[in-house]
Amino acid sequence: MSAHQADFVVVANRLPVDRVVNDDGSVDWRRSPGGLVTAIEPVMRANDGAWIGWSGGTDTDVEPFVEDEMTLVPVPVSAQEVEEFYEGFSNATLWPLYHDVVAKPAFHREWWESYVAVNRRFADRAAEVAAEEATVWVQDYQLQLVPAMLREQRPDLRIGFFLHIPFPPAELFQQLPWRRQLLEGLLGADLVGFQRPNNAQNFVRLVRQRVGHKTHRDLVYLPDGRMVQAAAFPISIDSAGLEELARTDAVEQRAKEIREQLGNPRHVLLGVDRLDYTKGIYNRLRAFGELIEEGEVSVEDAVFVQVATPSRERVEQYRILRDDIDRLVGRINGDLGRIGRPAIHYIHNSQPREEMAALFRAADVCVVTPLADGMNLVAKEYVVSRYDNDGALVLSEFAGAAGELRQAFLLNPYDMNGMKEVILAAMRAERSERTKRMRAMRKTVKENDVTRWATKYLDALSHVRPSHHKQVRPAGER
Ligand code: ADP
Ligand code: G6P
Repeated sequence: MSAHQADFVVVANRLPVDRVVNDDGSVDWRRSPGGLVTAIEPVMRANDGAWIGWSGGTDTDVEPFVEDEMTLVPVPVSAQEVEEFYEGFSNATLWPLYHDVVAKPAFHREWWESYVAVNRRFADRAAEVAAEEATVWVQDYQLQLVPAMLREQRPDLRIGFFLHIPFPPAELFQQLPWRRQLLEGLLGADLVGFQRPNNAQNFVRLVRQRVGHKTHRDLVYLPDGRMVQAAAFPISIDSAGLEELARTDAVEQRAKEIREQLGNPRHVLLGVDRLDYTKGIYNRLRAFGELIEEGEVSVEDAVFVQVATPSRERVEQYRILRDDIDRLVGRINGDLGRIGRPAIHYIHNSQPREEMAALFRAADVCVVTPLADGMNLVAKEYVVSRYDNDGALVLSEFAGAAGELRQAFLLNPYDMNGMKEVILAAMRAERSERTKRMRAMRKTVKENDVTRWATKYLDALSHVRPSHHKQVRPAGER
């Protein structure tokens, strides 16, 4: 693709597909993990734009290509950069720091240098691919320097940034040796979007304190006369698309089959996550184990299905988590399971969309217990899949989704006894109560789907930077 072509450009660390090289040398593309891809993909399909990102490998083949009707523009990342920029600064420094320090962040100067270099490469590529006065939408914590680097080269662009994970309070953020550079990087955008209002407030306060710019409510005034807005836009899913899938005969059939394969227990509990220490998987399974131990729940009539996508497996904290979960599941099943009746079915891989929908349909209780989470789309996916207005959602107060899904069975995942009580309450709730709660939550998620999210964000972006810039169509409109 030659330079200056796309009017709408998404820049994200990951492309929506991962390049997988098979044993025989052939190449396949597999859907990338995580909520960012789930949300941005439908937005991208509605626009004839370009998606700039990393293919997940260390290949240097950088020609743009079309996959699944999307124009994808790969950015090469070397093996050393995967270690330093991706596993290091992005996922062992920023990820734990931004998630309430639930694991200890590591600070290394070489990682920072690599972060700067890779961010520059993404910005350079975006500068080549974006048409005159295009809208460029930069995504997430891996690319916080891109907005300023891009603006420097292309002041004609309308630049948005959206952070998919929480933005920490000043008390934590200021641990970062490179705090000022990150804030200045983000200020290259016209609109900095966050999941929750307190994230936006944290950002504005930090900009005032650390960079010294004038601020008023959600606006930052830069010395050159430019204005940056910081506001919350809670992200969502393609609700209609998922519900349509969940309603198909094939999914319904598969859901029945899953329950049969599990031995038709009275209660099927389900956890679906990337295997990440922020998700509270350990606490959740321990709570379930204790409920069995104490006789509140029996393996004859309840089973927990935990599906966990492998994630960031070379980062130490993730390896530790994986071993911890392996041991815990082994111990609970060894101590409490019976022949043909394990307490926990643990599946450590990624499942196709149809299988996920069938799992949601099969689950009486979906248990979502992150210690910190920007949004958590799994909670929304469960609700949308339950078009029968049945099923119970157990949800951590620390998931961004708890701001909208007030009718969930809410809990504090650090409080083991409280968590056990709430899980039991969800299992024992009457049908009428389940329906009342589910109906209200479904209304929320169906009205506030990912199209609405993108529309609101892109509208706000065009208000901060009006002028003669071209309009971008939100997801859904063609
Ligand atoms: P995060 O972005 O931190 O991974 P989210 O809950 O926001 O968390 O998004 C996770 C996305 O990944 C959801 O769309 C979910 O359905 C999907 N997902 C999670 N685990 C699996 C799995 N084992 N197989 C397939 N998809 C998964
Ligand atoms: C979360 C992050 C995304 C990330 C995804 C998967 O959703 O917000 O930016 O892409 O997790 O993580 P990975 O490290 O595999 O890209």
